[in-house]
Amino acid sequence: MSLLRSLRLCLVARTGSCPPLPLQSPQPWHTFHAGHWLSSASSKDLLMKLRRKTGYSFVNCKKALETCGGDLRQAESWLHEQAQKEGWGKAAKLHGRKTKEGLIGLLQEGNSTVLVEVNCETDFVARNLKFQQLVQQVALGTMLHCQSLKDQLSTYSKGFLNSSELSELPFGPERKGSLKDQLALAIGKLGENMTLKRAAWVKVPNGFYVGSYVHGTMHSPSLHNLVLGKYGALVICEISEWKANLEELGRRLGQHVVGMAPLSVGSLDDEPGGETETKMLSQPYLLDPSITLGQYVQPQGVSVVDFVRFECGEEGEAAEAE
Ligand SMILES: *[C@@H]1O[C@H](CO)[C@@H](O)[C@H](O)[C@H]1NC(C)=O
Ligand SMILES: *[C@@H]1O[C@H](CO)[C@@H](O)[C@H](O)[C@H]1NC(C)=O
Ligand SMILES: *[C@@H]1O[C@H](CO)[C@@H](O)[C@H](O)[C@H]1NC(C)=O
Repeated sequence: MSLLRSLRLCLVARTGSCPPLPLQSPQPWHTFHAGHWLSSASSKDLLMKLRRKTGYSFVNCKKALETCGGDLRQAESWLHEQAQKEGWGKAAKLHGRKTKEGLIGLLQEGNSTVLVEVNCETDFVARNLKFQQLVQQVALGTMLHCQSLKDQLSTYSKGFLNSSELSELPFGPERKGSLKDQLALAIGKLGENMTLKRAAWVKVPNGFYVGSYVHGTMHSPSLHNLVLGKYGALVICEISEWKANLEELGRRLGQHVVGMAPLSVGSLDDEPGGETETKMLSQPYLLDPSITLGQYVQPQGVSVVDFVRFECGEEGEAAEAE
């Protein structure tokens, strides 16, 4: 799995930024042969991908991949057919929309943190300063929205904004015009279709800490505190006291969420899981798979309570904690 490998390498090297990654594994999905497919690491990757995409159980996803000789697309249709035939859970609402380019932006100010995604058609435009300024405007708009909401003093609050909600957000401190106008201006200047895809915001009182991480970072010298990249994660922690290493710990937790793509937090009482585990605390810890993430954080006096993960161009619903 190239993302995991790159994340591990990055941390070993302790560098602040890592080379950007392709969003999808360069290996075509169709080249797997039926039979031994589950033995290789890339097949486990496939299984995890299928689970994330469809939300069906491990057993059903494994069966689907076996039945379809490791072809992800066929396996997905097979699962949907079986689901209808046998009436399993909810039918998945995800259809194969084209992977989009663009950027994830992360902005932190005091107790508020926002993560946004803006899409465009090509990576070339994603590297353009004007596009990056649009991402900044969306992040600032979301930040102002978050800061304008009434504080809940006892616990953290988290919210999401969809595309249409984002378009209606006022733009700039004077609140003249909306993000929709900025979007139209950027489309006009750059000549590509763009979407204000989504945003998440988190606000915390004392006793909480928001760890964050952005992968595939692009440096944009003129946009100071905004971090841009291809993957982003926020991890909300409850802390007993403020410690000097919290920032580093928060970064590692964010890295884990980016790399391991959990679907829920789970509980410290859950059994440790393998590579395909989706509960964060039971997953093997990204940087030391001999322990679970739960075993890594517990001795540090920190409890993970929630997280948000954005992957630029990912299809369908965000993989986020309940
Ligand atoms: C963060 O929130 C706490 C509790 O609500 C408050 O006392 C503190 O002033 C806030 N800090 C900032 C920088 O807004
Ligand atoms: C966005 O969210 C609003 C409020 O929850 C909802 O009414 C609207 O249908 C959503 N729009 C899209 C495009 O999902
Ligand atoms: C631009 O992208 C949006 C979202 O994918 C789509 O709804 C819209 O039709 C596209 N516009 C054009 C002109 O292609």
